[in-house]
Amino acid sequence: MQEKALPQENQIRSDQDQPNLPQHIAIVMDGNGRWAKKRFLPRVFGHRAGVEAVRRVVKYCASKQIKVLSIFAFSSENWRRPEQEVGYLMNLFLTGLEREIQLLHENNVRVRFIGNRANFDEKLIAKIAEAEEKTRHNTGLTFLIAVDYGGQWDICEAVRRIANEVEAGKLKSDEVTSRTIANYLSFADLPNPDLFIRTSGERRISNFMLWQLAYAELYFTDVLWPDFDEKELDNALFDYANRERRFGLSGEQLNERHDAS
Ligand code: IPE
Ligand code: IPE
Ligand code: MG
Repeated sequence: MQEKALPQENQIRSDQDQPNLPQHIAIVMDGNGRWAKKRFLPRVFGHRAGVEAVRRVVKYCASKQIKVLSIFAFSSENWRRPEQEVGYLMNLFLTGLEREIQLLHENNVRVRFIGNRANFDEKLIAKIAEAEEKTRHNTGLTFLIAVDYGGQWDICEAVRRIANEVEAGKLKSDEVTSRTIANYLSFADLPNPDLFIRTSGERRISNFMLWQLAYAELYFTDVLWPDFDEKELDNALFDYANRERRFGLSGEQLNERHDAS
């Protein structure tokens, strides 16, 4: 398996490659239901409008040469929603994929999914596999879609696989470090998020990438997801560009590094 650098090292390098532009943006798209409610529409209209916002943001990130864009589309906890809403969302993933995949492919976007696929119907599982296969050699933006994903699920899966390796005698328990765990998580080959965005005024992570967000800069906006556009993303990028990321170092140490480069 490809070795993944510790998040800290990884991200310090990334900042030097492209000053002040995040390599990986992770978004919790929230507020679809409230967007619809404001318009006296059923919640599902908000989800449909949310797809348009996804389209805008993917296109904009690709044009800005962002390496990875992750979106939280459906959490492990969202199965608790009314059956009708869950059904609508699953159908939206399927039809959205069918409609968008060719255009994404033509734009050199690599599509990947993370999460537990076991609970999806066969048609959706097949469509996801097809989308991943079709775009696997694309070299532009990696578009990571988290569906039936939970940060705790991700860590549990990693721990279970590590325990299997230990049981099989392939790994010693005292060799397990944070780097080992990082290597067994979803998207271990990609950089961790630098910038986390959540819309709709909620200020929580809601079980998104718990491990991988360890050093992400957090950005919250009151804008509801269907209203999120290029201008809103620019606001987030501007805010991010003015943050000082320290990764445990002191401000003085960072200044010395800047002076030396
Ligand atoms: C986010 O919007 C989309 C999903 C969770 C699938 P919500 O549906 O959570 O919208 P609000 O929070 O009810 O407004
Ligand atoms: C988080 O949004 C999950 C997604 C955006 C897919 P929720 O709206 O489900 O989160 P909570 O329940 O308000 O924390
Ligand atoms: Mg919500």
